[in-house]
Amino acid sequence: EKGGYEWFMAKEIDEQPKAVADTLLGRVGTDGRLQLDEMRLSDDELREIDKIIVIACGTASYAGLVAKYAIEHWTRIPCEVELASEFRYRDPIIDRSTLVVAISQSGETMDTLMAIRYARQQRARVLSICNTNGSTIPRESDAVIYTHAGPEIAVASTKGFLSQMVACYLLGLYLAQVKGAKYGDEISHVIDELHAIPAKVQRMLDEGDQVRKLAADLVDRRSFLFLGRHVGYPVALEGALKLKELAYVHAEGFAAGELKHGPIALVEKGLPMFVVVPPRARDQLQEKIVSNIQEVRARGAYTIVLVEDGDDSVVPFADVVIRLPRTPTLLQPLVATVPLQIFAGELAELLGHDVDQPRNLAKSVTVE
Ligand code: F6R
Repeated sequence: EKGGYEWFMAKEIDEQPKAVADTLLGRVGTDGRLQLDEMRLSDDELREIDKIIVIACGTASYAGLVAKYAIEHWTRIPCEVELASEFRYRDPIIDRSTLVVAISQSGETMDTLMAIRYARQQRARVLSICNTNGSTIPRESDAVIYTHAGPEIAVASTKGFLSQMVACYLLGLYLAQVKGAKYGDEISHVIDELHAIPAKVQRMLDEGDQVRKLAADLVDRRSFLFLGRHVGYPVALEGALKLKELAYVHAEGFAAGELKHGPIALVEKGLPMFVVVPPRARDQLQEKIVSNIQEVRARGAYTIVLVEDGDDSVVPFADVVIRLPRTPTLLQPLVATVPLQIFAGELAELLGHDVDQPRNLAKSVTVE
């Protein structure tokens, strides 16, 4: 069943180009327009939406953070992201014109299920993004976008996450399409760029030995920090979560701009720090993060920098440079996440842990 792999997770990481391609499959018509069959909400209903709230747990919530950047940029509809376990306990402001988007790989996560039940009681419309056909969350939703990643067996989500982000992009683009043609050119450009992603993910897999070797070099470290900005921030959170759950080491992800507001005090000689650098097209963000890298390097951090091809500005301050294929800024998480997954899996394996079944964790969390 593992097809020659030692771990399901390794297999599922390698299946990501296909997971992305399959999630895109059949969703663009010959006229270039998006068609989401299981949408079930009419264009008129969607045009009434004036607020979007994404709810999810864990890794799925990081896909939600990415969704916020993309959906607000393309649709100009305000979009919040909230942990499902917090959502219904804060008396959220929702009504008929709110679209609640629940993201869940399993479709059975109790926190997320209870949150959508609450949202529907408040008459919000609920759309779920889910990888499991016929599971409870899509059954209880008004609409669903299925991710077509195939079954995910390893407890740690990998291909589930990438395909959730793809579905979020599709939703954002679809809502922009429904709202009108203002962003028409941008929509078709992004669709083309999405179709180029599977080959770019494949390249990250082909270059995986670089991060495997890095894991061997860092196997004795007990703490890791991850920095990112904009959509690199959720990537940092995901890199840290993977490392916690698989390698049982302390790991934290930060928004790079927060560094100076506290976390920089943690930096000491030899502390490994992964930094996701936004594409150069985002000059201001890119420049700021380069100065963050300089700051932590000057304090002795061991800097592992994920940066797009052709951007050499960080090279003088990087102990390790991990190259990323060029993508539009919003899509960069689809490639930047992959080396962090490989790193966490490799470190766990080197430490002798069960990569597929980390201690204390279950694949779907069916208690609140
Ligand atoms: C992390 C992980 C969890 C899940 C979370 C939500 O690798 O797998 O954080 O992402 O429990 O699960 P789903 O998406 O099934 O609702």
